[in-house]
Amino acid sequence: MKHLRLSIIGFGTVGQGLAELLATKRALLKQDYGLTVTLVSVANARHGFIYRDEGLDVPTLLELAAKRRPLSEHAGVRRWANALEGLQTTGGDVLAEVTGTNLRDAEPGISHIRAGLAQGMHVITANKGPGFSLAQQHSVQLRMEATVMSGTPVLSTVREGIAGANVTAIRGILNGTTNYILSAMATGRDYAEALAEAQAQGYAEADPTADVEGYDAVAKTLILAALVFGHPLKPEQVIRQGITTITREQVLQANDNGKCIKLIASLRRHRETDTLEARVEPTGLALGDPLARVDGVMNAITIHTDTLPEVTVIGPGAGRLQTGQGLLADLIAIAKTKQ
Ligand SMILES: NC(=O)c1ccc[n+]([C@@H]2O[C@H](COP(=O)([O-])OP(=O)(O)OC[C@H]3O[C@@H](n4cnc5c(N)ncnc54)[C@H](OP(=O)(O)O)[C@@H]3O)[C@@H](O)[C@H]2O)c1
Repeated sequence: MKHLRLSIIGFGTVGQGLAELLATKRALLKQDYGLTVTLVSVANARHGFIYRDEGLDVPTLLELAAKRRPLSEHAGVRRWANALEGLQTTGGDVLAEVTGTNLRDAEPGISHIRAGLAQGMHVITANKGPGFSLAQQHSVQLRMEATVMSGTPVLSTVREGIAGANVTAIRGILNGTTNYILSAMATGRDYAEALAEAQAQGYAEADPTADVEGYDAVAKTLILAALVFGHPLKPEQVIRQGITTITREQVLQANDNGKCIKLIASLRRHRETDTLEARVEPTGLALGDPLARVDGVMNAITIHTDTLPEVTVIGPGAGRLQTGQGLLADLIAIAKTKQ
């Protein structure tokens, strides 16, 4: 039987989703993977970091979080006001870093991840901020399946599923909010109406800038550049255009011409110059393109390789359990390599 002691830093939508999966899949983990997971610590911004050596009770934590009560009301815990301090004092085998994404300086996630790695912890994360700026230089694993298309397997598809194939290019719909808006515009709404609808459905934030200006897709493109092509890029090396200037008329005109407009993130390797071209921009796709059929908040990625000309993976790009699933798969992958 393998045993992992887990710390979850960030206990919002995704942190709670992962905790819920650990509880509901407890028997499956034991039976199929010979794995038991003890959640030893949890942190959020409001209540700090709590730790219990014998393990925390997940239903109790989820109930406290749902009622927005302090997590420290859990029985028998030690508490630190600051997650970094708590983590550095207590440790564990795996850190799940799921605080909010900060595309400016990647904090606080990057400090949590560095502290975890420095302590010899494996790290799994859904946080897109630190994702691309951390080199894989430690003997422990840093896995981030959930950063791109949540639990829909993209990074593992490239790493394991098509191992040995030479990836020449990638094209993807990596942001559900913009895809929802463009899909709504294709049915006749204008941009403002479609954005308001996305906000009302909870698909777009009150400040939608990160999505509609393409920054979120850029962050995922950087992760793919580093992990799929081994070619780390800086954000300014990605040619970026958002969807805010796209009009209903352009979308409908494209449809009349047998095309549809999608916000496409793309990476293309140029062998001759040994460069990687990275773009995030509205693109008119022929209706026969597999990505053209992906509507609403759904995400998709097409991988072009030497042996499999085109492989397309379609699936959810966000959600509590959907993103928790990406973290769970990374946790199981780590357990499999544990002696
Ligand atoms: N939601 C999705 O569908 C999805 C999909 C893919 C990737 N992601 C990524 O996953 C991460 C988590 O997303 P989410 O939707 O769960 O966000 P969220 O609901 O806003 O939760 C973020 C959590 O981080 C905590 N936090 C913030 N600063 C902290 C600090 N210094 N120390 C300890 N905890 C801190 C917050 O504390 P409080 O509760 O006290 O505010 C909150 O519990 C983000 O990086 C996001 O980009 C999310």
